[in-house]
Amino acid sequence: MIRKCLFPAAGYGTRFLPATKSMPKEMMPVVNKPLIEYGVDEAIQAGMDGMCIVTGRGKHSIMDHFDTNYELEHQIKGTNKEDLLIDIRQIIETTHFTYIRQREMKGLGHAILTGRELVGDEPFAVVLADDLCVNETDGVLAQMVSLFKQFRCSIVAVQEVPENETHKYGVISGEMIKDDIFRVDDMIEKPEPGTAPSNLAIIGRYILTPDIFDLIEQTEPGKGGEIQITDALLKQAQSGCVLAYKFKGKRFDCGSVEGYIEATNYCYEHLYKQNQKKVALDQHSTTKED
Ligand code: G1P
Repeated sequence: MIRKCLFPAAGYGTRFLPATKSMPKEMMPVVNKPLIEYGVDEAIQAGMDGMCIVTGRGKHSIMDHFDTNYELEHQIKGTNKEDLLIDIRQIIETTHFTYIRQREMKGLGHAILTGRELVGDEPFAVVLADDLCVNETDGVLAQMVSLFKQFRCSIVAVQEVPENETHKYGVISGEMIKDDIFRVDDMIEKPEPGTAPSNLAIIGRYILTPDIFDLIEQTEPGKGGEIQITDALLKQAQSGCVLAYKFKGKRFDCGSVEGYIEATNYCYEHLYKQNQKKVALDQHSTTKED
């Protein structure tokens, strides 16, 4: 029912300079996969097949990554290196990528509005690739999609954060209507220390209904002089309904060096090594069968 996922990916990634001087931050590898591919995997797992990428100057490698590289394919054809491309080939064959360039950096709300032409008039997901989310069963987007099926309104993913970190996030307050589900009555983008309405911070996963686009258009620049999705969502909450969902799983802030290192260690131990073991077992059983 939700087919499209929007990835705002025009930002500079200044916290990772000089690495991000000519390489998009979304292409930073976490073990052997670029950050954005984790987000795409999560969207596919949630049933989506249209990836709408809002890109900017110097971001060509994102497009190249989700495209066939004939020269490379030719070079490694018939070798065991081909195995390393199985997952990305599968993504390319089953998923549709569209791109639009954001010419000016005017905030997350503006980036989402830039994607309007790609999304059209239907509910859609938003993934901020910086926030890498993992869960052993359903991913965060899949959890949010099943919630959307019940409530049919915009949903933000939230997580409890220590009080001294609320100023880094959009923070919500609301009434708990069910386990882990809140009906939002207030939300503030990066509140000044001591003024946060709760410790429930928005993380980079959203399901948005398409009326959000008109609301963003009517939104004045807010925190940092930027057009904030948080401000547009507050209007939506006040005139209709927005839910906040305390998701199941782990989230790593790969926009910070510490979070990126934690994500790398976690993914190495829990995803990469497990996968290597599985491949070894598969090979072992195929050799036995031969
Ligand atoms: C953005 C949003 C903020 C949210 C955060 C999650 O901020 O504006 O509301 O809490 O993503 O990562 P940014 O981190 O891009 O400044």
